[in-house]
Amino acid sequence: MNKVAKRARPAVDAQFYLPAEKFFRANAPTALTFDDVTLATLYSEILPRETDTSTSISDRLALQIPIISSDMDTVTESRMAIAMALNGGLVLIHFNMSPKDQVAAVARVKRHIHGLIRDPVTVGPRQTIGDVLAMIEGKRYTFSTFPVVDEEGVLRGLLSGNTVRDRYRAKTVAEVMTPRGHLVTEQETDVASDPIKAADRFFSENVGINKMLLVDRRDHLRGLVTASDVERITGEAKSHRKPARDSQFRLVAGAALLPKRNAEGRLDREAILSHVGELVAEHVDALAVSTAHGHTSGVGEVVKLVRGAFPSLTIIAGNVTSAAGVEFLAECGADAVKVGQGPGSICTTRIVAGVGIPQLTALFVASGAARRRGVRILADGGITKSGDIVKALTLSDAVVCGGVLAGCREAPGEIMEIGGKVYKQYRGMGSLSAMRAGSAARYGRDRDDSRKVAAEGIEALKEVSGSVDEVLTTLIGGVQSGMGYLGAGTLAALRRKARFARVSPAGQKEAGAHDVVEVSTRSN
Ligand code: XMP
Repeated sequence: MNKVAKRARPAVDAQFYLPAEKFFRANAPTALTFDDVTLATLYSEILPRETDTSTSISDRLALQIPIISSDMDTVTESRMAIAMALNGGLVLIHFNMSPKDQVAAVARVKRHIHGLIRDPVTVGPRQTIGDVLAMIEGKRYTFSTFPVVDEEGVLRGLLSGNTVRDRYRAKTVAEVMTPRGHLVTEQETDVASDPIKAADRFFSENVGINKMLLVDRRDHLRGLVTASDVERITGEAKSHRKPARDSQFRLVAGAALLPKRNAEGRLDREAILSHVGELVAEHVDALAVSTAHGHTSGVGEVVKLVRGAFPSLTIIAGNVTSAAGVEFLAECGADAVKVGQGPGSICTTRIVAGVGIPQLTALFVASGAARRRGVRILADGGITKSGDIVKALTLSDAVVCGGVLAGCREAPGEIMEIGGKVYKQYRGMGSLSAMRAGSAARYGRDRDDSRKVAAEGIEALKEVSGSVDEVLTTLIGGVQSGMGYLGAGTLAALRRKARFARVSPAGQKEAGAHDVVEVSTRSN
């Protein structure tokens, strides 16, 4: 029966439902976007829940879900990064902050949940509690228990969070810490093969202790495992989505790079390399040279510079909408190219500058060049629903989202209440306010002249939409449904099998709920 269904391919299907190669060429030179097309269903032996949504951004960086949160200052900082990585995705931490703050944001993500934290944040016995409080505030740490080590790295005690209080600020760490003699520790060599299993046993045996400190034979601190991390990690094994982790079990995080220029307008190569070096020292997983126009000598120069200095770092570059742009950035050394000029929900580039390409045609044009050059394509902007992601993934390796994540609790925007509804601020990085905060260079402007130029983005509000976990559950659920309809068990199969049809305005109307009064059954 299955064989019969598989074999039977009436010619009429092939006439109306075309593979990308035929479909986009047949529509040329009209450029199409998500709502202009629909995907045809195909014979399937795959249930949505059986589909595999994993992807990769480079040969060295794999993700469990094909979603990246955009490098925008109202979307992606470390809270968003942690939530996205725990759900298997990637983030690009924005650059509208000082380089130091961006490095600290990456560090917060990389240290968040490790099976084994190899380089825990420590304090010295002679520091005061006031010093420790200032460090927590300055680095925005969300934890306040620290191992105490001397100058040689020898473990001297543990500073417990309940002693890191303002009332003790004049006391030294040595005065309030739990001294070495009272600490239960483990030899690193005894737990190296499976730190999580060892820690699980350790926390069961040592009631009330929630930090497992590892030392070497000479009592140097060699690592730390926390009870809550172990619980989370053992819980993850049962959860539906696996976190995105690096080879050392740290969550993955990417960062966007500001192509800093000096007073003469030339690239500040030293500042760029030193900043990237600091990000790499914190184990950043991907660096995005993220600009409005990536097919430029300036962006090419930055990509080459970073590639030369950091040969194994995953580099994302963009944005482009042409095959020539993809080839250029691939030649400069990018692993993945961001495609999208003007599709974003807060973008006005097409209105202001009259340029940009509807997103699906841009993706089609870029994807051929990407295949030839062996680079990945990231579909950046314009995603408003899970169906758009499915369509984008027929021509790309992952999508970059701003608007659909901007309403999440974990996004950094201000929350405000209007007419009984709660909203978060969401602004384009080319809006006047964002450019004044630092992103002007992304649009080829100086921060100082951003007041005089036409903005290419707007400031907006998004209704608060719950947690990243909830939003991703809906989005990935939709992606898996799409894969099930196409009989695609993997994203590679989705790309191979996709068949497109053009949708008329009446077809677009038919696609949404229509001619009914919608009843909401949401409890919140
Ligand atoms: P969505 O549709 O997800 O789009 O909200 C997010 C993407 O839009 C781009 N972006 C801009 N484009 N002017 C633009 O033309 C802007 O001010 C702007 N800010 C962000 C960016 O690629 C982002 O990922």
